[in-house]
Amino acid sequence: MPDIETLIQQMTLEEKAALCTGASAWSTTPIERLGVPELIVSDGPHGLRRVPNNHSMGETSLPSTAFPTASCLASTWDVDLIHKVGQAIGEEARALKVNVVLGPSNNMKRTPLCGRNFEYFSEDPFLSGQLATHYINGVQSQGVGTSLKHFAANNQEYQRFSISAAVDERTLHEIYLRAFEMAVKEAKPWTVMCAYNQLNGTFCSEHRWLLQDTLKDAWGFEGFVVSDWGAVHDRVASLKGALDLEMPGPRDRRVEAVIDAVQDGALDESILNESVRRILRIVFKAAETRGGGTFDADQHHALARSVAADGMVLLKNNGVLPLRDVNHIAVIGRSAQAAHFQGGGSSHINPTRIDIPFVELKKLAGNAELTYCAGYPADAGFHQDLIDESVALAKTADVALLFISLPAYKESEGYDRPDLDLTAQQVALIKAVTAVQPKTVVVLNNGSAVTVSDWIDGTAAVLEAWMMGQAGGGALADVLFGKVNPSGKLSETFPISLSDTPAYLNFPGGAGEVRYGEGLFIGYRYYDMKGVPVAFPFGYGGSYTTFAYSAPKLSATSIRDVDGVTVSVDVTNTGSVAGKEIVQVYVHDRKASLVRPVKELKGFAKVALQPGETKTVSIPLDFRAFAFYHTGYHQWITEDGEFDILVGASSADIRGTATLILRSTLELPCILNRDSTISEWLAYKPAAPVFMPVYEDLKSRMAKTFGSADGSESVGMDIDTFMMDMPMLSLLEFQQSSLAVPAEELAADMLRQVRSQAPV
Ligand code: BGC
Repeated sequence: MPDIETLIQQMTLEEKAALCTGASAWSTTPIERLGVPELIVSDGPHGLRRVPNNHSMGETSLPSTAFPTASCLASTWDVDLIHKVGQAIGEEARALKVNVVLGPSNNMKRTPLCGRNFEYFSEDPFLSGQLATHYINGVQSQGVGTSLKHFAANNQEYQRFSISAAVDERTLHEIYLRAFEMAVKEAKPWTVMCAYNQLNGTFCSEHRWLLQDTLKDAWGFEGFVVSDWGAVHDRVASLKGALDLEMPGPRDRRVEAVIDAVQDGALDESILNESVRRILRIVFKAAETRGGGTFDADQHHALARSVAADGMVLLKNNGVLPLRDVNHIAVIGRSAQAAHFQGGGSSHINPTRIDIPFVELKKLAGNAELTYCAGYPADAGFHQDLIDESVALAKTADVALLFISLPAYKESEGYDRPDLDLTAQQVALIKAVTAVQPKTVVVLNNGSAVTVSDWIDGTAAVLEAWMMGQAGGGALADVLFGKVNPSGKLSETFPISLSDTPAYLNFPGGAGEVRYGEGLFIGYRYYDMKGVPVAFPFGYGGSYTTFAYSAPKLSATSIRDVDGVTVSVDVTNTGSVAGKEIVQVYVHDRKASLVRPVKELKGFAKVALQPGETKTVSIPLDFRAFAFYHTGYHQWITEDGEFDILVGASSADIRGTATLILRSTLELPCILNRDSTISEWLAYKPAAPVFMPVYEDLKSRMAKTFGSADGSESVGMDIDTFMMDMPMLSLLEFQQSSLAVPAEELAADMLRQVRSQAPV
């Protein structure tokens, strides 16, 4: 790698400005006279959309493996498998001479209505952060970079280019930034892509607090920030906001604007130099990888098949699955012939091949006869004749497999879903078929939760197969015939109805703003807190076997926050076939100074078990497993107290609990003032020596104020609780008549003493 500082000195202002804006839709500006090569980027994220002509946004891309989309990947909860997918995508990128893959997409599923949820991992930041980390490590192990996107709070398609997400500070840190923070710190993506939208009134592409203070300074991000395609509105403002590379290019007028701004002093050249430095570092890092050659398309197809099978979630099964001893299977639904395996928009891939579910089923069906009919039209029309045909076919068969895919006009990048329902024809079809065929299995292809209550009762089984990638047809056959035991679990809650969902009252916003009024409480955090029943809870998924859990054990029952703890549990396969179980660890804080979710996912592991086999699963919990973001301190803090460590098979199926005592080692600055409440004074440990004697004295005075001095009369008041929410000064003033010094002086003196003892 050449010396970057020397290069920067040699570059002209024009060259620097040009480097910070793309040369084409997919490449950066090369500087031949200085030996600076171009850098090629390509979508992303579930395979490559490598457009052969860099100046074209949309022509057919080169064939590459279409892996299952993020909803399916996430439902595997298998970090090693995600790493392998990343590695395979990295290999393909190398072969297709791509330096940076534009992914993974790491936004939270705030509402199941978001049209792009198929590209996002989860409603839970810990799960998303872990999966993004392993994806990035996989890709980057091949000498190819990633672009972690879309940073940040890009959780809907409605007005995505302009809307301002109004998110409070704590919610931002705990929910919408957390998955990015994990991936940036743990996997060091080469680049981060800023989102189109505004965050609290400022475009992400100009958001210095977001891109500089948080991403680069606080998290130590060393790569460059690239704009989402067309997200830059003012190039000079975006450079000042710490956005390094504008894409796509060319944009001559933007380059000129930067040159002018430096020349007339509106932009400090050191800001431009910093972006140049960051881009050059990655350009030369990428140049160390030799591109070209081929990739093993067969092997990647096989990988795509096993990932798809492991990501499918068995939502319901009355025993009809796996299919056995069937002579005639009615295969109904267009998606049995036209596999629905990916979503629309920038992630759309030209696959190396496509497994047709009907064909793959036939391969594993032995002597059984398979007959097909379409069941529903490709468009939004209603065709009773297709339903009648399906009913007639289903009657003659032993089993009906109903392939139901959510049409692209209802779910895609670029627009949100109007509702969570299947089409009217699909619902009518399921009802009509289940009325005549009790052994009806519904296979769903969609990218995010759908409502099921209208039609699920009559079904024998439901398999959520997601947008399952190009090998999904084979994977489906594997699962339906029991070659693979399903082991996926939901990475998002399936609500009963749209009006139950957390963002219902605040989505999609209007007048330029969407208010994240539900705060921290998205996904299961909301359903848990409100006690709202759901169709299928977060973390849920069935299997062809059963698992038993021992009581969980902790490596220590009393710890300091910095030490962390390991949770172990023995899991036994109590059924008769091999299977995989996803063990989930949630943390419940019994008491905190700020409201906290009932429980939060802080660890998980996937374990493979033969029938009768037992394995001990150990899951570590670190400082962040117990911490929350405190808006008074503007940082993550822990508090002394008791925590329940819940080990479960889903968020609603907790199999065992262990209790932990935690001691905070944080030395927090004093943020008390004279109007801080008594509970706040009590919560701040360094204040105790000064405050406790005053507090005890005040308490006895208050007891006398509200009861008789000798205690013979009591109004039954809880004096402690009564005092808790009173501001310190008000309480002192309340007792002024019996105090020797003025209340204000006493408060000021206490504050002085506490501040002098507090850590800085
Ligand atoms: C999408 C990005 C994508 C980019 C380039 C944008 O519209 O939001 O995810 O990487 O286009 O195709």
